[in-house]
Amino acid sequence: MRALVVYESMFGNTHRIADAIADGMADGSDVSVFDVSDAPQRVPDDVDLLVVGGPTHAFSMSRLATRRGAARRGGAYTDVPEGLREWLHALPAPPSACAFAAFDTRVDMPLLPGAASQSAARVARKLGLEVVDTASFLVEGYEGPLVGGQLQRAREWGHGLTEQLAG
Ligand SMILES: Cc1cc2nc3c(=O)[nH]c(=O)nc-3n(C[C@H](O)[C@H](O)[C@H](O)COP(=O)(O)O)c2cc1C
Repeated sequence: MRALVVYESMFGNTHRIADAIADGMADGSDVSVFDVSDAPQRVPDDVDLLVVGGPTHAFSMSRLATRRGAARRGGAYTDVPEGLREWLHALPAPPSACAFAAFDTRVDMPLLPGAASQSAARVARKLGLEVVDTASFLVEGYEGPLVGGQLQRAREWGHGLTEQLAG
């Protein structure tokens, strides 16, 4: 099985989760991980599973204005015109056999609504992809760090995805 993991990350937390997910997938698939700014503009025909992830910004996937907000707080990127939202919206319909899963990071506040993974899943369904799962991973504050246990959860989630598709 071939899998593609595409992530966006301002403070590095989502990047760490993406790497842990890929780690968990590695024994069941040939997995490549891309920062969204280096990701291919189309999903190659031999990819069986596309996994995307980004930080939850303003209850959804980031926008240019929220990325600038993150940059003002010391985030890695200053002016990124294309985040996960823009990449997904520009994506030509992937091969119909390709499954889709989405994850996000968000602050550990149960009453705060919205998650980038849910917004990404809505776009994927419009592209005709079957959404097999979504997951949120928690950070303690806007800049992080990750809440304890999230990297292990991410490895297990990645492993579960490959098992689900293999079975
Ligand atoms: C402009 C901005 C808006 C945010 N809005 C939300 C939000 O609506 N809900 C939430 O749970 N976290 C929100 N956050 C916190 C982010 O989810 C957090 O910064 C992110 O998970 C860190 O991931 P990263 O290190 O990969 O950038 C926001 C952060 C920024 C900078």
